[in-house]
Amino acid sequence: MFKEASSFVEGVDFTFALIFGISLFFLVGITVVMIYFVVKYHHKKNPKATDIEGNFSLEVLWTVIPTILVMVMFYFGWSGYKQMRIVPKDAIVVEATGRMWSWSFKYENGKVSDTLVVPINKAVKLDLMSDDVIHSLFIPAFRVKEDLIPGDTNYLWFEAREIGSYHILCAEYCGDRHAYMVSKVDVLPMDMYEEWYNTKIDTSNKLLMGENLLKSNACLSCHSIDGSRLVGPSFKGFFDGEAEVIENGEEKTVEKNLEYFKNSVTDPDMQVVKGFNAGMMVPYPDKFTEEDYSNMIEYIKSLDEE
Ligand code: CUA
Repeated sequence: MFKEASSFVEGVDFTFALIFGISLFFLVGITVVMIYFVVKYHHKKNPKATDIEGNFSLEVLWTVIPTILVMVMFYFGWSGYKQMRIVPKDAIVVEATGRMWSWSFKYENGKVSDTLVVPINKAVKLDLMSDDVIHSLFIPAFRVKEDLIPGDTNYLWFEAREIGSYHILCAEYCGDRHAYMVSKVDVLPMDMYEEWYNTKIDTSNKLLMGENLLKSNACLSCHSIDGSRLVGPSFKGFFDGEAEVIENGEEKTVEKNLEYFKNSVTDPDMQVVKGFNAGMMVPYPDKFTEEDYSNMIEYIKSLDEE
């Protein structure tokens, strides 16, 4: 029917078609019989109503047949669900984190990526975590979808069966930019996956390191790099001149320096830039090192050079 991108496609699609087919059959069947009876027993044609006492064999029939049908639907639903909850022991484990509004994937060797990269024909388990509110990781092509719950852990697993690139969506409304909470999963042959997995990023490249930090922590989903207005102030021109901020309800002008940047990261609601709303950003108190700050600032300042 469709391209089978994961080992779950066949089972899920079959169960869906079965339940949909049975529902459609009864929808059409009941509607047709109902219309037929409305015409047939219209009071002009059938002026005297008939009192029916009951019909034993008919009652047995309409109890037994639906029970069997419902049990058949339950059997396929339950066996499919069980398969999706029992993870093979040799699965690759990746930590998938959702936050307003981006995804990040952390591998066992510490590698972090904003796209999910997996080998073909190998079980992959995603440990699902949320930094803020409930999100839902949905890979339509693989027929998998699970919630990410703050303060709790959840998981899903799949085995990709086709080389290619597939959408990852958020399927739980999580705020302003929910619709932009998209990523992709790249399915590679095992040798290419191994190569990707073992490639270390060059930590001496400050611009790249800074960009990666801003991307992997979802900063760029609220702070644009081209001057356009999103949830927070743009990073373009971020360090130009002075900032008009509201601190403790009072307007204030502050110098845009390292300290201002750090304050904005560790305690975003302390000084809120005029024209923007407080309470929109999760504080990151101990998340970054001095080197991280310097890399991020290097990248942000480079936006103004072009
Ligand atoms: Cu995350 Cu919707």
